[in-house]
Amino acid sequence: MTDVDLRGGDWLDDNRASWDERVPVHVASEMYDRGVLREGGSQLDPIAAAGIARLFPDGLEGVRVLHLQCHFGSDSLSLANLGADVVGIDFSGEAIAEARRMAGELGLPTARARFIEANVYDARRMLPEPESFDLVFVTWGTIAWLPDVAEWARIVAWFLKPGGRLFYADTHPTAWIFDEGDETMPRVVFPYAKRGPDVLEDPGDYADEQAVLEHARTWEWTHPLVDVFRALRGAGLAIDDLDEHYRLPWRIFPAAVPLGEGMYGWPGERWIPLALELVASNR
Ligand SMILES: C[S@@+](CC[C@H](N)C(=O)[O-])C[C@H]1O[C@@H](n2cnc3c(N)ncnc32)[C@H](O)[C@@H]1O
Repeated sequence: MTDVDLRGGDWLDDNRASWDERVPVHVASEMYDRGVLREGGSQLDPIAAAGIARLFPDGLEGVRVLHLQCHFGSDSLSLANLGADVVGIDFSGEAIAEARRMAGELGLPTARARFIEANVYDARRMLPEPESFDLVFVTWGTIAWLPDVAEWARIVAWFLKPGGRLFYADTHPTAWIFDEGDETMPRVVFPYAKRGPDVLEDPGDYADEQAVLEHARTWEWTHPLVDVFRALRGAGLAIDDLDEHYRLPWRIFPAAVPLGEGMYGWPGERWIPLALELVASNR
């Protein structure tokens, strides 16, 4: 429960302006290199790739996927290249325009890759297709941008077919206690459980160290693990699997070191998990 207006307000305007501005930065970045997509392949990170392979051992042919917060569609189009029929939703008009452009470049028809510009909290109105997806895919940089995790879980559940599953992989909420720190160790700055958003002024961008964003103000929320668990259970979903990882697909703080396959983690000791993976199903 939150008292934030989920359909409008400064949080939404500031965050959308920030994400719109990041799109061309990301498109030009090495991190979001889309060469593999152009070759018909998938650029899913190793955690998502392994998770999806476990859920769909026979492949994704004919599987209907809803990708929430799809950004400019790199993962959506990876899933489409793997055979899925994908709908991607994101509130950034810039991101959706680029996702549609790229789908066209790859020659994917709308039935295979469709992109909708919408706030997650408006998804049911913008895509009135209840119980129509085999998989809701939510990865890396998602619920931290959303004020209300219980409502998010209800939206996920609403879209899933009976037997359909949520695949979720994102920053572990414990990792949000850190600030940037220095090259040797991040600093513990934020409490784990807190009410309300962190309103941050940060003109930097994780995909391009040189970037200086004009729209630097963002609103972010930490949702403790127990809140995510209760939100999913409260929405009627069963938690099928849960895992913790010590690596994630971007340099979360300067002390993080490359571990191969585009992943970063602790230098030396694995202090606390950095990523959370879970699968929930609509039984
Ligand atoms: C870090 S990116 C997610 C990247 C994604 N994992 C991918 O496939 O590349 C976060 C995305 O969430 C989107 N976003 C943030 N808040 C949103 C909201 N309320 N509704 C819809 N999209 C939102 C942003 O526009 C951005 O594209």
